[in-house]
Amino acid sequence: MVIAPGISAGFISAPLSQADLEEICAIIYERSGMVFGETKRYYIERRVTDLINQRRAQSVRNYISMLRGDQRETELLINSFTVNETYFYREQHQLACLSGSILPDIIRSKGPGDRIRIWSMPCSSGEEPYSIAIWLLENWPLVDAYNIDITGSDIDTDILKQAVEGLFGQRSLSKLPEDVRERYFEPEKDQQRRLISDLRESVTFASGNIVERESLTALGRFDVIFCRNLLIYFDQAAREAAARHIHDLLHPGGYICLGHTESMSRISETFEPVRFPEAIVYRDVGRK
Ligand SMILES: C[S@@+](CC[C@H](N)C(=O)[O-])C[C@H]1O[C@@H](n2cnc3c(N)ncnc32)[C@H](O)[C@@H]1O
Repeated sequence: MVIAPGISAGFISAPLSQADLEEICAIIYERSGMVFGETKRYYIERRVTDLINQRRAQSVRNYISMLRGDQRETELLINSFTVNETYFYREQHQLACLSGSILPDIIRSKGPGDRIRIWSMPCSSGEEPYSIAIWLLENWPLVDAYNIDITGSDIDTDILKQAVEGLFGQRSLSKLPEDVRERYFEPEKDQQRRLISDLRESVTFASGNIVERESLTALGRFDVIFCRNLLIYFDQAAREAAARHIHDLLHPGGYICLGHTESMSRISETFEPVRFPEAIVYRDVGRK
């Protein structure tokens, strides 16, 4: 039964009109900072059409009204548009920099037993904050002398549930040395390995949106922030908002590690590049 052009038996099929697509992209941008341009048209159309059908919205206009009226609906939209690619020990030189240069500098103003707070934002399915925990256990001799607190945050509420569960496939684990896998993961089951409970419990997960300041307030402040492979999805305005919020959440003199294609130059004057032997990272020098 054909009800209207593009709608058959309650299901709509692509293509959506240019105006509808632009409105949906604007909602994604307003809520997350993520920019999807014309080159991603096919990808956007497919995802939005799937969502409209899943949510039984009947028409694009209905779906857009649902998005405008219901936060949870926008959350589902954002969750389906995030790119969650990540794996253990990604950009290992930055982990080496953490243990070899960043933490030795940070503890100059701390005493034994003091808290050191590290934030992985965005953490996706958890590989990044768990890598930090494993790396420090394996490579930082002072790991037991300080109270290390690792938090992982992401805007995607579905991927955070996976992070808490701590189940990982071969692709996620492929960069980890075999002996590390044996020490920190349960034996393989259904082609997945679960992180041991001590490690799962060593990281706290909390949802957060880097472009929405209020969503970050409860997290407190950090000594080091890993913000890798997020700014690449943003435009200039969203990058600047992210940089302001990172500054707010860093202790003065704190460090930030970005992805290898990302930089703070032309985004914020608050951060200065620091060239350590292992990696170039940024330090918050407090300029606004
Ligand atoms: C490619 S992953 C990066 C994961 C990890 N940092 C890494 O480098 O392996 C990008 C993540 O950014 C998250 N994201 C997108 N927009 C966000 C926002 N406004 N606030 C917080 N996280 C966001 C996505 O949900 C996704 O999990």
